[in-house]
Amino acid sequence: MTIHRGAAVLALCGLIGMGAQARAQHAEAKKAEAHGVAKAVAILIPTKGSKVEGRITFTEEGGKVKVHGVITGLTPGKHGFHVHQYGAWSEDGMATGGHFNPTDDKHADVTAPMRHVGDLGNITADESGKATLELEDSHLSFHGASSIIGRGVVVHEKADDLVSQPSGAAGGRLAVGTVAIAQP
Ligand code: CU
Ligand code: ZN
Repeated sequence: MTIHRGAAVLALCGLIGMGAQARAQHAEAKKAEAHGVAKAVAILIPTKGSKVEGRITFTEEGGKVKVHGVITGLTPGKHGFHVHQYGAWSEDGMATGGHFNPTDDKHADVTAPMRHVGDLGNITADESGKATLELEDSHLSFHGASSIIGRGVVVHEKADDLVSQPSGAAGGRLAVGTVAIAQP
């Protein structure tokens, strides 16, 4: 009887302990939520027949989003790089739809005042096939109509010519990632 009661007390202590931890985690999550999304990450996964992969981080600071990325497995030179409407990966990358364009503007360069929100221009791979990307942008956002959360990041076969409509004639899709909420 005494042993049973002891075991019951121990089990109860365990439950209370777990409850407190879960509550603390919940409070932490609530606090982060109240401040909105601060960081997002897209892991680029190669499409069929491609070896292109990479990791892109998006960090929001003062109304701007900083984009940092490393992409490997490319042919040397320029490759179109955009945020597309949908975030789903598929073998040919076509499940991502067209460029993310909530403002109904024309395709343009990343530096253009009017452009698709998703127009991030080109990345440039070196002789080893590696491209690094560093930019700060005021079109991208983590909330509202221009939120990129859950949308797709696409690396293209060819250079984005920055003028052809609707997508810069950048050719096939070599890697696709989904913009996911990351721990701040
Ligand atoms: Cu694209
Ligand atoms: Zn575009």
